Amino acid sequence: MLIAAYFKRSEFSTFDLNASRDAPLPEVLNPTLKGNIMAKLFTSRNVGAYDLDHGVVLAPMTRLRTIQPDDIPSPMMADFYGQRASEGGLVIIEAASISQQARSYLGAASIYHDGQDAGWKAIADAVHAKGGRAFLQLIHGGRQSHVEVNDGRDPVAPSVVPFDGVALTQDGFVPVSPHRALETHEIAGIVDDFRRAAQRAKKAGFDGVELHGANGYLVDQFIQDGTNRRTDEYGGPIENRVRFLREALEALISVFGADRVGVRISPSGEWGGVSDSDPEATFSYVAKVLGSYGIAYLHVIEPRVKGDDTLHHGHGAVAAAYLRPHFPGPIIAAGGFDRESAIEIVDSGVADLVAFGRHFSSNPDLPYRLAHDLPLTPYVRAAFWGGNEENYSDFPAYEVQQADLRAVQDEESAEAA
Ligand SMILES: Cc1cc2nc3c(=O)[nH]c(=O)nc-3n(C[C@H](O)[C@H](O)[C@H](O)COP(=O)(O)O)c2cc1C
Repeated sequence: MLIAAYFKRSEFSTFDLNASRDAPLPEVLNPTLKGNIMAKLFTSRNVGAYDLDHGVVLAPMTRLRTIQPDDIPSPMMADFYGQRASEGGLVIIEAASISQQARSYLGAASIYHDGQDAGWKAIADAVHAKGGRAFLQLIHGGRQSHVEVNDGRDPVAPSVVPFDGVALTQDGFVPVSPHRALETHEIAGIVDDFRRAAQRAKKAGFDGVELHGANGYLVDQFIQDGTNRRTDEYGGPIENRVRFLREALEALISVFGADRVGVRISPSGEWGGVSDSDPEATFSYVAKVLGSYGIAYLHVIEPRVKGDDTLHHGHGAVAAAYLRPHFPGPIIAAGGFDRESAIEIVDSGVADLVAFGRHFSSNPDLPYRLAHDLPLTPYVRAAFWGGNEENYSDFPAYEVQQADLRAVQDEESAEAA
């Protein structure tokens, strides 16, 4: 069973660059913009263990298209990622829960049992077949969960701090179940789950893993003082609040090596109801800690974006800018970028790569389109959360779109003659 689309918002987002998917596309590139192909964004760079040919990254996107029951990665997921892979390009695969306890959304990916291994391998293979690199994002949802996806058990968190988020069950998006605070002795078990998930990811052929430390999930709940009220060695001062982040990260590094592990954070992000009394100090410290490990990259979501939506239109990229002095390695900036702002932030040196979510969802050849300043196909929000291949893995590449357009024009001319 595949999960049906729960959000049926039919309108296209106001963030779309083009008015309509059906509008004819220009056949000739704008020659004045061709020079931008030489912008730093489109040149080669080193990220951890890998040499990449460009800096346009696929952002992780949970699309709720696993096969149920058991969260088996589906063939259409392999198609989706293969289509978005490019020679020397990095794709970050959607969040995969590291255990049953870690699950948040019915239909979302997970990586904790043997039945899933072949599906994950197919995804890694599809990316490699195009010459791309694939990192799998690993997640524990923490309090963003529900007893129905959690084997009847209460969701867990650093502390009990009620919030009104949603989880996805058979009944659609419903309020999360009340959570309980983790006992200190339980935390090592979750760290082990991260290690085991990384081992499965490695066996499947992924080039690396990304620790999901963003968007108010478990790692983020430990980092921020609004959700971490603990009095043991995992709570209190920031040195303690990053202990869980460190332990989970070290578990991933023990499997892949630091140069094949990235970390995603969302300073001041509003998804998941997290908050911190001094986000800039907290996340600057986090960046410094992460830098000391020599990880492959730091992936930063700008606070102008909340999850899958732009909340604060017109806001600049503030988080990557204040973290830059604290992290010596590659920074991937994400959240609300278009071609122009992506070129700008990489040229400025504030970020080294830019991850795109929504635009990549509807433009499988996004790196090519951005490099050549070609029009983008608008994304379809109604297909974000669950559904089938439609508006998921059926978006054509630009050249295919053009060929189709020419075929229609030829047919029309033949009919008119
Ligand atoms: C449908 C959808 C699912 C998402 N799932 C994830 C996820 O699994 N992990 C994550 O870190 N971010 C997730 N995000 C956030 C994106 O990675 C990205 O940060 C966000 O879309 C903003 O970037 P954009 O403006 O380029 O779309 C998701 C976004 C969308 C639209």
